[in-house]
Amino acid sequence: MAKAVRKDEPIEALLQEGRKFPPPKAFTKSARVRSMALYQEARRNPVRFWEREAKELAWIKPWTRALEWKLPYAKWFIGGQLNASANCLDRHVQGPRRMKAALIWEGEPGDSRVLTYWELYREVSRFAAALRKGGVKKGDIVTIYMPMIPEVVVAILACARIGAPHSVVFAGFSPESLRDRINDAKSRVLITADGGYRRGGVVALKLNADEAIKECPSVQTVIVARRTKQDVPWTTGRDVWWEDFIRDAPARCAPERMDAEDMLYLLYTSGSTGKPKGIVHTTGGYLTGVTTTMKYIFDLREDDTFWCTADIGWVTGHSYVVYGPLSNGASVVMYEGTPDWPDKDRFWRIIEKYGVTILYTAPTAIRTFVRWGEQYPKGCDLSSLRLLGTVGEPINPEAWVWYWKVIGGGRCPVVDTWWQTETGHILITPLPGVTVCKPGSATLPFPGIEPEVVNQKGEPAQAGYLVLRKPWPGMLRGIYGDPERYTQTYWSQVPGVYFTGDGAKRDKDGYFWLLGRIDDVMNVSGHRVSTMEVESALVEHPTVAEAAVIGKTHEIKGQAIAAFVTLKHGHTMTPELQNQIKAHVAHKIGALARPDDVIYAAELPKTRSGKIMRRLLRDIAEGRALGETSTLADPTVVATLKKAYEE
Ligand code: PRX
Repeated sequence: MAKAVRKDEPIEALLQEGRKFPPPKAFTKSARVRSMALYQEARRNPVRFWEREAKELAWIKPWTRALEWKLPYAKWFIGGQLNASANCLDRHVQGPRRMKAALIWEGEPGDSRVLTYWELYREVSRFAAALRKGGVKKGDIVTIYMPMIPEVVVAILACARIGAPHSVVFAGFSPESLRDRINDAKSRVLITADGGYRRGGVVALKLNADEAIKECPSVQTVIVARRTKQDVPWTTGRDVWWEDFIRDAPARCAPERMDAEDMLYLLYTSGSTGKPKGIVHTTGGYLTGVTTTMKYIFDLREDDTFWCTADIGWVTGHSYVVYGPLSNGASVVMYEGTPDWPDKDRFWRIIEKYGVTILYTAPTAIRTFVRWGEQYPKGCDLSSLRLLGTVGEPINPEAWVWYWKVIGGGRCPVVDTWWQTETGHILITPLPGVTVCKPGSATLPFPGIEPEVVNQKGEPAQAGYLVLRKPWPGMLRGIYGDPERYTQTYWSQVPGVYFTGDGAKRDKDGYFWLLGRIDDVMNVSGHRVSTMEVESALVEHPTVAEAAVIGKTHEIKGQAIAAFVTLKHGHTMTPELQNQIKAHVAHKIGALARPDDVIYAAELPKTRSGKIMRRLLRDIAEGRALGETSTLADPTVVATLKKAYEE
């Protein structure tokens, strides 16, 4: 274990994961990508590769220059014009996809709706025409605060159709979060719903929206879709029901000619502290990036039924529920509620019901399924599945293998896809027909992408910061209204290089292993240890379902590792088990990483998008007052944990 500490290494690599999973032969036989030719083509000339892909979209006017790169801003497909909504709808209704299912929607109470491309096209056009008639113009930012119902997709594509950038705010966010986002974007129009269903209850969206816009002077119109039919407060003259809003609108609406670099949307991401950042995405590059990655990474075929479980309020919902799948003419499943309603098999029932072929979900969900037990998926027919994906956090090897075996039945490749709100689309990922997967590694850069791992000085390192030197089509074009923060956050850590904020290591095959956020790295006796590696070792213990580790101030070591763990169904924490778990980690990755404390947690504190909030665990372990908790999915979790810890 002893290893000289290199002060210029931001992180060390400890965990060795040796298992390899080549693509199943039956899968490769009919996969879209069966050789490395795509990588070679992209390596020879990345820009030309993206241009070839971009040409598959419907352009109103071709571009004159593929890329202009003036650090820290890139422009792609300059001079080109297109419309994202027309790419997702019009070009499909003109051909054999007209009557194909575009959106297969399942409501939490069990109701469902299927919209064909033709129906979606008409609904979007009608809503877009109504927005236009209502005075929404190209460039006006429209805020959307809606549950996972078909109308949210209609609203998004209608905005894109008339060139009004959308700013979708996750429906689980509080009135204050909504208020801040509306005010930053100065939206005149807010689209919401009376409410939404969640875990058997209803969320009072309109009530929240009203609370928010008390302090939003810009808002003049609130369009309200009816979902739960609950009573809602109403301001006459400002509020309008969705059906009244579209009543006289025609089901035709000419798509706006958008420059490739016109803003398609704004999406706020919390960042670790302070004011949320409005990430700006534009039209041509973004659409090229999501369409291309969707097609190759998910090996999309005409008869696939694709289900991305992400909420529309996150970038994954934007890129792989809406733009990526629809631009490719795919059938997309969308589910309104939680995975445990009415029972813990809901996801598997949905897969069975619609014959889902590709499932894209998050490690946090997978670890929860592990905890609930195999009986739930085992009770359902999952034989339609042929490909699985994950995103959002590093996936611990044990969870990966469980996903592969229990959900995929050993016949489905698992693509662990790394990307960020800022990157717009997936950047590091296997291609399922060719890549030999190693559980816990996002494997290799997508063709045309060149990430690197560097030390503090920006020099190549085996383990360190994950950065990108060259632009890619879907990259953010800035933080809305705050160019300084953009430069500061993304381009200053290593000057002139895009800083992801993630730690990573590369192995001898060039595979990338994501090690968690740099801010979470622990410093134990001068060794910088990644949260991901210790957590993966913990999850490998047969009783542990999920783990979160933090560095806690320690007189001698600088920091000592404290591990918060949840246990699989049927296990209880005892002092013996705590010792066993500590010994297991020491055995797996070395005495250095042995946790000083193993603390039982009924649940771990997570953000609404499922990421573990280690910052709050640090507060608990160090006996501090809890920091900002408003982004927590369930605020009671930390209070319970704090109490348990103090006892
Ligand atoms: O830390 C990485 C983690 O999620 C961050 C981006 O979060 P967000 O902007 O919310 O976007 C989530 C959906 C793309 C990254 O900086 N992350 C995302 N995917 C992975 C991951 N970490 C490890 N492996 C992944 N596959």
